[in-house]
Amino acid sequence: MSAMADLLPRVPGPKLGPFTPTGEAKIKFISYLGSPYSENAYVWKVKINGKRYALKMFRFKTFQYLDQCHHSDRRPPLANRNMYAKYYDPFNCECRAYGRLKEEGREDLAVRAYGYLILSFDQQAEVAGKMGVRHSSLISASWGAHEEHRGLPVRAIVKELVTDDFGEDYPFAITEAQAPQVCSDLKGFHALGIRVGDIRESNYVRGKLVDLGRAWTMYHPGVMSCSSIRLSILRKAEARSLVKLFQRRNFAVPRALQACSVGDMKDMEVTSWDWRKDDGAVAHVDKQLYKTWSLGLFSAFLGMEALFTIIFMLFIWN
Ligand SMILES: Nc1ncnc2c1ncn2[C@@H]1O[C@H](COP(=O)(O)OP(=O)(O)O)[C@@H](O)[C@H]1O
Ligand SMILES: [Mg+2]
Repeated sequence: MSAMADLLPRVPGPKLGPFTPTGEAKIKFISYLGSPYSENAYVWKVKINGKRYALKMFRFKTFQYLDQCHHSDRRPPLANRNMYAKYYDPFNCECRAYGRLKEEGREDLAVRAYGYLILSFDQQAEVAGKMGVRHSSLISASWGAHEEHRGLPVRAIVKELVTDDFGEDYPFAITEAQAPQVCSDLKGFHALGIRVGDIRESNYVRGKLVDLGRAWTMYHPGVMSCSSIRLSILRKAEARSLVKLFQRRNFAVPRALQACSVGDMKDMEVTSWDWRKDDGAVAHVDKQLYKTWSLGLFSAFLGMEALFTIIFMLFIWN
């Protein structure tokens, strides 16, 4: 019998629980919903215990990719590879963002997620087969697995199946009537300390955001190393992406977004951006996440202390 599944990811801060107590389930794969070009995940319409869901199954990401997500040239490096995975891997990004929505009772801001599942090897093989992978030696590669992912299971998130009736060009993504709600949802994300990171039409289904695979959810190293001005710029950029999206569709742009497109963020800007709320996560980030960085600071502090001691001794000497 399998052990009870943990909440994920295993770092302080928001997390997502398993869909079943063990994190495993019998899944009937019905049809593919996602884009054929997706690099992050395969989204399928599935049936679990007789009910229909959308199952987002995440492909593996290399350390090199996660390192780029961290913009390591501008941010202090993280303590180890595991930390990059915990904060930048799309599965963990979604778990943390959905966990945060649940924490604050704002699950209405996105398409509902009910929990994660771990796919058995047979399930991985079945999906790969349905996606046209004929040879068993290619199964693991079809999930993007490299040497560094050896032995790791494929992870998936069970979501509400909003629709399986897609036409061309995402006509069901957002309608004009939904535009004001979409705008206030984005503001809601920002107010909870979530930077969505991927505002585009294909990430909306019937006016709700569905893809949180690039979200930075407080307490997050990407955010911690940004100044408050830079954070405000990042929020503005997300609002502008919405403006562009609405303009392309010839929708009336909501007033708050319109103002933002000419640089006035008053209506879109939020004040409840309290990154230091979760003390456990703060301690973790400060003590473990930037190991080298905090050691560097510590030695700089020791250096300063030594300098002051020498000056003090010289002063006494005279
Ligand atoms: N819950 C859902 N209900 C219906 N369709 C969905 C759902 N989630 C995703 N999709 C479809 O799958 C596509 C890809 O999903 P997304 O989460 O954006 O993954 P990715 O971009 O990483 O492939 C969406 O554009 C949408 O067409
Ligand atoms: Mg997407």
